[in-house]
Amino acid sequence: EVFGVEEKSRQQVWEEQQLKHALQASNDSNEIRVEGSEDYDFVFDEEAMIEFTAGDDESALPETHSELDQKLVEELDREQTRLQIIHDTRKSLPVYKFRNPLLSAIREHQVLIVVGETGSGKTTQLPQYLVEEGFTQGGKFQIACTQPRRVAATSVAARVADEMDVILGKEVGYSIRFDDKTTLDTTILKYMTDGMLLREFMTDPELKKYACIIIDEAHERTLATDVLLGLLKDILPHRKDLKLIISSATMNAAKFADFFYDAPIFNVPGRRFPVDIHYTLQPEANYLNAAVTTIFQIHTTQPAPGDILVFLTGQEEIEAAQQSLEEIAHVLGSKIKPLIIAPIYANLPQEQQSRIFEPTPTDCRKVVLATNIAETSLTIDGIKFVIDPGFVKENSYIPSTGMSQLLTVPCSRASVDQRAGRAGRVGPGKCFRIFTKWSYYHELELLPKPEILRTNLSQVVLLLMSLGVTDLLDFPLLDKPSIPALSKALENLYTLGALNSKGAITRLGRMMCELPCEPEFGKVLHIAATHDSCKGSLEEVITIVAMLHETASVFVQGKADRDQNKSGIIGKVSSDHMLYLETYNNWKDMNYSKSWCFDHKVQFKTLVRVRNIRDQLWRCCDNLGLVAVNDQASKTLGNLENLEPRIIKSFIAGFPSNIAKLGTSGYHTMGARQGGVDVSVHPTSIVFQALRKDMAKPSKFILYQRLVLTSREFMRDCVPIPREEWLNEMVPHFFKSVNRQRS
Ligand code: CDP
Ligand code: MG
Repeated sequence: EVFGVEEKSRQQVWEEQQLKHALQASNDSNEIRVEGSEDYDFVFDEEAMIEFTAGDDESALPETHSELDQKLVEELDREQTRLQIIHDTRKSLPVYKFRNPLLSAIREHQVLIVVGETGSGKTTQLPQYLVEEGFTQGGKFQIACTQPRRVAATSVAARVADEMDVILGKEVGYSIRFDDKTTLDTTILKYMTDGMLLREFMTDPELKKYACIIIDEAHERTLATDVLLGLLKDILPHRKDLKLIISSATMNAAKFADFFYDAPIFNVPGRRFPVDIHYTLQPEANYLNAAVTTIFQIHTTQPAPGDILVFLTGQEEIEAAQQSLEEIAHVLGSKIKPLIIAPIYANLPQEQQSRIFEPTPTDCRKVVLATNIAETSLTIDGIKFVIDPGFVKENSYIPSTGMSQLLTVPCSRASVDQRAGRAGRVGPGKCFRIFTKWSYYHELELLPKPEILRTNLSQVVLLLMSLGVTDLLDFPLLDKPSIPALSKALENLYTLGALNSKGAITRLGRMMCELPCEPEFGKVLHIAATHDSCKGSLEEVITIVAMLHETASVFVQGKADRDQNKSGIIGKVSSDHMLYLETYNNWKDMNYSKSWCFDHKVQFKTLVRVRNIRDQLWRCCDNLGLVAVNDQASKTLGNLENLEPRIIKSFIAGFPSNIAKLGTSGYHTMGARQGGVDVSVHPTSIVFQALRKDMAKPSKFILYQRLVLTSREFMRDCVPIPREEWLNEMVPHFFKSVNRQRS
């Protein structure tokens, strides 16, 4: 038992006993499986599958007129009640009481910092108040509200469109990378990721089309938010009419005020009920198991209603937890009340995200398995219990090696306090921390580390330079990045050809800025279209780049499925890049068919997204003239085999730092001045499988797209480089200098 529970009724003791047995059973053997759990992504019968067009899923039409009238009346009633509920809910939010004072403060000051408890209505209400008060001047200007996370931008936009009773994408829209749901003439309120607003500075350096900008969730301190604040600080004196609202959870508010020359802080007092905090007595070695146990402990001992929110670090953990919850619940069967399991993470298909907001039926309990997206960006009603292992997945970049990793690290105290608060919105709540009290006071940092201090700055530096910011050290930032981090970024950009030897931005550098992808990918695309030994491969390279943006969810999850799927193509290709290309092309040849995806265990919706990304990249390349250059060459090229060297060479040009060399003890990264590290091919890579099945001999050089650290350092999305000469051919200075430093 993880937490002390005081008084127990006999019923409780009995239930706990049952639970213990069930947990024991599921721990002892891996044999217990819920029927069909291996392929829960596709629950329908293969033979019964029909492709539907819109409208098929609506209920059958009523037969008689009176029935029809009756239905209409009911429909209208329902609609009326829905609107009434929305209206009442809006009025009940804490921020509503401060509507007028807030609006006066905004009128009076150019910059206002708004601080308030999560769920008080900052994100959904504030922008609506501004619209209602005519800040858009009859649609002449727009209002932007930035979000650090894509999921938050899309789900909040949908909610607000609903509240305003308008169609999403018309008056209210969202804009996230590769997905723009706004209409040029009609959209007045736009939820967007902070990165998208940053890009808008390139076409509209004074953001002239906006009357108000709300930088929401500013306490998250993403790189894009920090840079936005710097750029906004610069333009405010020239845009006296522009209103800037910075909205934040309580942490950091004073720092924002300071940054904007003592801007006033408006505090929206939240309603918050007391939350009892429980700690484990000892550190738990396996927090995932401990979290699952705790869920059942709460479910069997605490009265309903009262939903549970669990903070996990990512998709893989969430899926693992979901599976073990389903297995245990299956074993317990009718001995426990039904559990509704609702996951939420960034890569979850949009259609499934709304499940977390659906009201829980009586006599059920909802368990939301979330990443730290639910910490402040999303508010889920009805949560009474929070389970917090106290970890978060964080990007960390080491300038000296040029390596970026996603690491699971302990959260800050501010984060775990914020998480606990999620339990106290509807009434008194409880938070179960799967770490010790000692750890809370002695091991956790006070505040999270801003992204700007732990990330690769190349893209941002390039963007700033393209905006004419030449003195990076002088650019206003809440926290200044270290000099080594800045010089590494400049060095990277120089290697890519985005900057010349004088440190000025080149034509290629400007092109990279225009493309909606990282500068490295921009370089890959440019080379694929223009370099003598690569051109003609642009179309294929665009497909691969688009697929690499969605790799997390291309293949249906489940190891067996992955193997099966790949075995169809595995003999034919020798790299993940070519696997992605073949997969996409096969799908395209089958007329983008849904059943083809089903047969090959590929996620249809992901491929639809890839197709969309691909189209957008294609359009950008066309605008930049790259397609025209490429097309002249492609006529003479022919089949994929001829193209493969061109494709590989393009990726070498874009990712010279992501190459590992085979040594006596396996692969070792190159390109870093100081040593590099030992790395292995990730088991999900097709390269790994080919090696295991003795179908290929290990290549001396491998290019990888990213490193992940689990039990060791793994390379994901790999392509073997068949000839060493290609390295110097594609990036001459780079490998020469690396070799010189080594010898
Ligand atoms: O931004 P802040 O955390 O202050 O609150 P908010 O996101 O504006 O949320 C206000 C209320 O809207 C919450 O209590 C949620 O119940 C509701 N909401 C929702 O039901 N569905 C969404 N997608 C977003 C918000
Ligand atoms: Mg919010």
